[in-house]
Amino acid sequence: MTVGIIGGTGIYEIVEMGSVLEKKVIQTPFGTSPEMIIFNLHGKEVVFMSRHAEGHAYPPHMVNYQANIWALKNMGVECIVATNAVGSMYQSIKPGDLVVPHDFLDFTRLRKNTFYDDRTVHVDVTEPYCPLLREVLNSSGKVVTEGVYVCTEGPRFETGAEVQMYRKLGGTVVGMTGLPEAVLARELEICYASICMVSNYAASISPAKLTIDEVFDEVEKKREVLIEIISNSIIKIPESFKCQCHCALDGAEVKSGQESEDL
Ligand code: HPA
Repeated sequence: MTVGIIGGTGIYEIVEMGSVLEKKVIQTPFGTSPEMIIFNLHGKEVVFMSRHAEGHAYPPHMVNYQANIWALKNMGVECIVATNAVGSMYQSIKPGDLVVPHDFLDFTRLRKNTFYDDRTVHVDVTEPYCPLLREVLNSSGKVVTEGVYVCTEGPRFETGAEVQMYRKLGGTVVGMTGLPEAVLARELEICYASICMVSNYAASISPAKLTIDEVFDEVEKKREVLIEIISNSIIKIPESFKCQCHCALDGAEVKSGQESEDL
C-alpha cells in the first residue's frame, strides 16, 4: 500500500531516512499541487507532501486542501498519516505531548470542504479517523492520549471564551489545519489519521500571550521523535487494512431519481 505523509511544520527530514525516487508537482482540477516527494522507506512507497508548501507559503485558511488530497489520491496513496500542531485545552496535556485524535469538532467557515458539488454525497464520519491507522500510531507507546480535535478557521488564535466553550463541548486540543483535510480523505476513500503535537497551552489555559515562536520552538524540539514514530509506523502499516475507509462511498450517494430534499 502506498502511504502518504502530510507534514505540517518541520518534518521534511523524514524523506532523508529513505531513498528518494522522484519529486513531482501535478495539476489537479482544483489547482497545482505542492511538490510531492516519492521515496522508498522500509520497502514501501511513500509520498511526502508539505501541507503549507515550501517556506510555509500558505497559512492554514489558505491551504488548498482539495488539491492536496486529490494529488495524493492520484499518486495511488491509500493511507495518509498527517501531522498537526495544536494547542492543549487541558493542563494535564502538556506542550511536547503527542495526541492522536479519535474525533473532531469543525469550526472552520470559509473552506472548500467537499469534492462533491455536482453530486449529492453524504459520507459517514461517525468515526472520522481510521481506527486501524490510529492503532498503528498509538502502538508507538509515545502518544499520551486520544482526544477531540477542534478545528478553527484562523489565522488568529482563539479567544479565552472560545477555548472555554470548546472545552465544554468536549474538545481536547485546538488547531487550524486538520479540516477539511480529514473529510476530503474520507470522501476519496483514503484511510487517514493524524498525530498532533502539542506546541502550547491554548488561550486562557496559557498564562502568557501566545506567540508563533513558541509553536515553532516546541515543534522543533519534538521533530526527531515525530519522525521516528512515523517511520516506525510505516513498517507496521499492513498491505491492506480491513477498515471501512476504503468503501466510504458505498451507500453515501443520492442516485438520480432518488429524493434528496429531506436531507
Ligand atoms: N490554536 C490554534 N491553532 C494552533 C494552536 C492554538 O493554540 N497551537 C498550534 N496551532
